[in-house]
Amino acid sequence: MATRSPEALEAGFLAREDDRARVSVTRGYEDRREALATYFDSTARQAWIDLTSDVKVSGIRATVRAGRDEMRGVLLDWLPADLRRTRVLDAGCGTGALTIAAACRGAEITGIDVAGGLVDVARERAPSFTGHGRIWWKSGDMLDPSLGDFAHVVAMDSLIHYEIEDLVDALAKLTERTKVSIVFTFAPFTRMLGAMHKFGKVFPKSDRSPAIVPIAESDLRMHLSERIPSWEVKRTRRVASGFYTSQAMEIVKRG
Ligand SMILES: C[S@@+](CC[C@H](N)C(=O)[O-])C[C@H]1O[C@@H](n2cnc3c(N)ncnc32)[C@H](O)[C@@H]1O
Repeated sequence: MATRSPEALEAGFLAREDDRARVSVTRGYEDRREALATYFDSTARQAWIDLTSDVKVSGIRATVRAGRDEMRGVLLDWLPADLRRTRVLDAGCGTGALTIAAACRGAEITGIDVAGGLVDVARERAPSFTGHGRIWWKSGDMLDPSLGDFAHVVAMDSLIHYEIEDLVDALAKLTERTKVSIVFTFAPFTRMLGAMHKFGKVFPKSDRSPAIVPIAESDLRMHLSERIPSWEVKRTRRVASGFYTSQAMEIVKRG
């Protein structure tokens, strides 16, 4: 079901069904997390550094970059405008653009990623002064309970590679230490992704990335209401820009 193009795959957005089959023999959150750590710290490292900078990129990657900029804006808009004295977790921070933007709005934010090499890049990119904001950079698992409690958690495109059960389980674990909201993205199941899947078949097997797992919004809502009944979906927004399609969702504590 997953799909990719040769350039967008390095951005982690598109992958082929045969990739998915390969990775799914090692199912489960931990196996997938380790595959992603290896991928983002080796094969995809330079592509991510470029994609998340302002260096010139190909037309396809430019559409991905534009979509990701828009998505980051959506997620940041769903956080309070004034983030001073507010603890935030950027779960799967990559090269840190969202972490830094939130810190510039005053957040006391932890940016964590399992790909330690990307966290090093994020650390180098962070300005030395962020006003009231403070950043703690960490390399490791976003679900590590030693990170403490947060008002808000953001997970931009960092859960899109997990099976729906693992994604929802990860969200459930995050709710245990989140007071107000979790904003995250998932890869929506669309006809476009189905078409891209066919397109992806023409590219060589050597160019592999961990698959993205397209998820139907209705399935996700059902899993969420069963697994985390004390939380509800507040809003959702799809961003589609060329080779980038991702859907934002905010869940909040009921009552
Ligand atoms: C598609 S990238 C997005 C990075 C960043 N959020 C952004 O939007 O630029 C996904 C990131 O999630 C990280 N990631 C995936 N699973 C993780 C986990 N369980 N704990 C920490 N980081 C994780 C990957 O290492 C990768 O850097």
